[in-house]
Amino acid sequence: MDEKKTYYLTTPIYYPSGNMTIGHTYTTVAADSMIRFKKLTGYDTYFLTGTDEHGQKIEKKAAEAGVTPQEFVDKIVAETQNLWKLMNIEYDDFIRTTEPRHMTIVQKIFRKFYEQGDIYKSEYEGLYCTPCESFWTETQLKEGRCPDCGGPVQPMKESSYFFRMSKYQDWMIRYIEEHPDFIQPPSRANEMLNNFLRPGLQDLCVSRSSVKWGVPVDFDPDQTVYVWIDALSNYITALGYGTDHDELFRKYWPANVHLVGKEIVRFHTIYWPIMLHALGLPLPGQVFGHGWLLFGQDKMSKSKGNVVYPQPIVARYGVDTLRYYLMREMPFGADGNYTNEALLTRSNADLANDLGNLVSRTVAMIEKYFGGAVPAPDAVDEALDTPLIDRFRAMPALVEKHMDELQFSVALSEIWKLIGDCNRYIDLTQPWVLGRGEEGRPRLATVLYNLAECVRAVAVAIGPVMPNTPKRIFEQLGVGDPALQTWESIQAFGALKPGTVVKKGEPLFPRLDIPKELEALSGGGTGNEKKEEKKEEKQEKKAAKSAEKAEKKADEEENAALITIDDFSKVKLKTAKVVACERVEGSDKLLRETLELGGETRTVLSGIAKYYSPEDMVGKTVVLVANLKPRKMRGILSEGMLLCAEDSEGNLKLVTVEGGDFPSGMEIG
Ligand code: MSP
Repeated sequence: MDEKKTYYLTTPIYYPSGNMTIGHTYTTVAADSMIRFKKLTGYDTYFLTGTDEHGQKIEKKAAEAGVTPQEFVDKIVAETQNLWKLMNIEYDDFIRTTEPRHMTIVQKIFRKFYEQGDIYKSEYEGLYCTPCESFWTETQLKEGRCPDCGGPVQPMKESSYFFRMSKYQDWMIRYIEEHPDFIQPPSRANEMLNNFLRPGLQDLCVSRSSVKWGVPVDFDPDQTVYVWIDALSNYITALGYGTDHDELFRKYWPANVHLVGKEIVRFHTIYWPIMLHALGLPLPGQVFGHGWLLFGQDKMSKSKGNVVYPQPIVARYGVDTLRYYLMREMPFGADGNYTNEALLTRSNADLANDLGNLVSRTVAMIEKYFGGAVPAPDAVDEALDTPLIDRFRAMPALVEKHMDELQFSVALSEIWKLIGDCNRYIDLTQPWVLGRGEEGRPRLATVLYNLAECVRAVAVAIGPVMPNTPKRIFEQLGVGDPALQTWESIQAFGALKPGTVVKKGEPLFPRLDIPKELEALSGGGTGNEKKEEKKEEKQEKKAAKSAEKAEKKADEEENAALITIDDFSKVKLKTAKVVACERVEGSDKLLRETLELGGETRTVLSGIAKYYSPEDMVGKTVVLVANLKPRKMRGILSEGMLLCAEDSEGNLKLVTVEGGDFPSGMEIG
């Protein structure tokens, strides 16, 4: 048997300096969606995330909170892990840089670099802020002062170790040039080459004596490993690299993709590959630098007071709604704005309307017309059925292509194209009309089978981004067999078994009252359990109302095709005799008829010149819609409309009154 292909994906490890925001959630949800997709499509996957716990910032925050750095990070890490549980994130490992399994290997790596001459000791020069005990570069300063406390800074020197990045610069340039997929999107590769590599790489300061909260350099205990050798190594220490138990490392390294925000692309595409190369290790397949989730025009930050946290959104709308929004709204790679309004609009339009209604209408119609059992397809109308089935067949490969490019929003839009086609198919086939009599049943059976089969494919395909929703759809569709929930099962149309018993359930997504929700969201909406309970109650009521509405809509649709006798009596149809007819100048479609109807003369323009010549027309008794509002065409006032029959190719035939004694001007009705 073929061994499964492996797929190793990482998120950055997050600084546990405060609660994770919707921005951190964005990266993690993207990684989780990708991993779930790879699992679904048959890969042996490994998903790593974690926390980057050392450094001055954490040291300082802990001191402010009056706790040890370890106590400080432990609390935030526990909250982070709870958040990932809430967001349905299924990682294989969560690495913490304060764990001995990580720290001992970082020391080993550091020593190796030193021993092979990649690291040397020198002096670090920078602008120092004494109260913050921090070095800053010129560009980091705010108006010439410390960006943290706003105090003065002065030039200072401290002894540090440096990594000889310059030694590897040419190799790195060549590698990027020869591996166009290594840095994605490609614009970020150009940025690295033009802004950092070609102008010349500076050696990198990799230790500090002024920072105590870090991995100690074991051969020089005054120094701690500074930031990047510590942080980046997590991707291999988590797999047991450098230990006697390195099975995971041998199985999964090199990573397929490191997913990172754009501001840390440089560290992942220059320093990290150089480190790996110096260790004699292969490089990851790709570093994908995604954009930022902005709030207004700004990157979210606590100091700006514009941070959005995911918990209240999940409590109100559910985790799948937030995951869908994050993956759908922004092209992955570009910056995008988070707004509550966009989230609510997507929820109503894409989830409640497009997806939710499709599922509830399909299930409701199978219950209504076939006693709840999916009918076997019968009468075919190729013009309507083939495009839908073609869309079904094309969808999986397109989704896979876009997912492999980490284009989540495009992949989702492919699934929504199938959903949109299904909804249009309902409008075109009008199942409520087919359901009126026995003669429509063979066709109705096909229509409902096709819809149910498409809904099954949609449920399979949305799973990676919306892991809770498929099982709710499968329950309604009566698809309990796991074999019908696989990616393989949607590669061909028709796996759904006729006779499957559907069961109407709650609407998948309630319709939200956007102005009300906006108000509630701007009111904060965190904490307070009582408030949450009330909200839940409200949600339930809303869901019940929405179910009622969906039912009403189905009834209305059924009724919409019917008109009352009063409606019909508004239309005045009269027989009329064509007494003269000519082509309308400058138009190859229009004929101008002069009609006589019981003593009255009217002029009417008709788009039938392709089918009738003026000579054909004269003498015919036709049927005129006599009370149609007059309309000017090509400067001529047309006072009514002639009834025509039209076949599916658009060929027209006039409705005429022949063979009887029909004077003109008679009313029809
Ligand atoms: N600890 C480093 C990463 C080390 S990886 C070896 C770090 N941590 S972080 O917590 O500041 O950010 C982690 C990731 O979250 C980054 O990729 C960053 O881009 C991402 N995001 C944080 N806020 C974000 C947004 N508002 N929008 C999108 N991504 C954001 O950097």
